[in-house]
Amino acid sequence: MNRSGSAMANTNRLKLGLFSPNCSGGLAVTTVPERWAAGWDDNRELAVAADQAGIEFLLPVARWLGYGGAGGFHASSLESVTWAAGLLAATQRITVLATVHTAFTHPVMAAKQFATADHIGHGRFGLNVVCGWNAPEYRLFGLALPQEHRERYAYGQEWLDIVRKLWREEPAFDWDGRHFHLQQATSCPKPWQGLEPIIFNAAASPEGRDFAIRNSDFLLTSLVDLDKTRREVASLKSLAAERHGRAIDMLGVSYVVCRPTRQEALDYHRYYAEKLADEASVDRLMALLGQHAKSFTPDELRQHRVRFAGGHGTYPVIGSPDDVADELERIADAGLAGTTIAFVNYTREFPYFRDEILPRLERRGLRQATHQ
Ligand SMILES: Cc1cc2nc3c(=O)[nH]c(=O)nc-3n(C[C@H](O)[C@H](O)[C@H](O)COP(=O)(O)O)c2cc1C
Repeated sequence: MNRSGSAMANTNRLKLGLFSPNCSGGLAVTTVPERWAAGWDDNRELAVAADQAGIEFLLPVARWLGYGGAGGFHASSLESVTWAAGLLAATQRITVLATVHTAFTHPVMAAKQFATADHIGHGRFGLNVVCGWNAPEYRLFGLALPQEHRERYAYGQEWLDIVRKLWREEPAFDWDGRHFHLQQATSCPKPWQGLEPIIFNAAASPEGRDFAIRNSDFLLTSLVDLDKTRREVASLKSLAAERHGRAIDMLGVSYVVCRPTRQEALDYHRYYAEKLADEASVDRLMALLGQHAKSFTPDELRQHRVRFAGGHGTYPVIGSPDDVADELERIADAGLAGTTIAFVNYTREFPYFRDEILPRLERRGLRQATHQ
């Protein structure tokens, strides 16, 4: 691991991160009136509460186009690098990531932006690298999404190699690659204390997973069947060691509906993810994922429509506090280092999670208590 002082390097068996609070709707594709508006003040309040509760990371979605439905899902999103910089200034311990499309930010600009954010947070900045899947967003930038995954990840590799070289090397260098031609490239300051920020990646295709085990510290993976995940984690960790001599960890992605009783939680889930789902946005999201990404098989897409409305296709963790703690323990037992979580309304629901779920996870030995 690059950073021994980072919250991500602690010994908790189940690390937790809040995912997508920078986007309207968060992960819930719904029209309920209490859906998340993703305003700055709410993001800041959530980040401070999560930091004080010992949550390890905050992960934004980089989104440039909404999905067009009545709920305005992702119609508004705070840009992720500036969002991260603001939250790093407002917090003390938590790792704050920016999610960045390699094709939309020049690597010289990116290296300096990330180093600046890392200085603001005294070494708590992290980078989630996206090599592309959303064709309309590419068109928005006047670009064509490369058809072949191999091409997308080759471009991403050259981009990341430049960013890292700018972070590592003092003397200016010339770069004559396939996609970039740079003269006397240099960037100062280097990241905080000369240590490289933590890297996340969420690829699913074979080409993307090869990129992830070569470059990332944490690989995010969709969860459908936890037994399948257990095998996947073991095999990717050994591939990373064999092929690249690297240790990587994997994180799941989930959403939480927690209420005093299981029935109340199920009822609320049915209300926002079935009765009042933003159906047009769910259709659009599933169609786009089916066309360009390999995160879900066609069968999984067909079977799990409610999961897309409930939490953008992430893993549902629904029930009473004991149910939720049980399910999170199963996620840890699958060999994952942790999981992302999301709520319909983050600032309203996080305090209940903090007060009811975190102590249960501590009693089970999955997390250490955080003392303020
Ligand atoms: C947890 C998670 C977070 C992701 N964040 C973003 C994002 O913010 N923006 C984006 O365009 N794609 C995002 N992706 C998409 C992935 O980076 C990747 O493109 C997608 O999973 C397809 O993988 P593939 O290229 O290997 O088929 C995310 C995926 C996951 C599972």
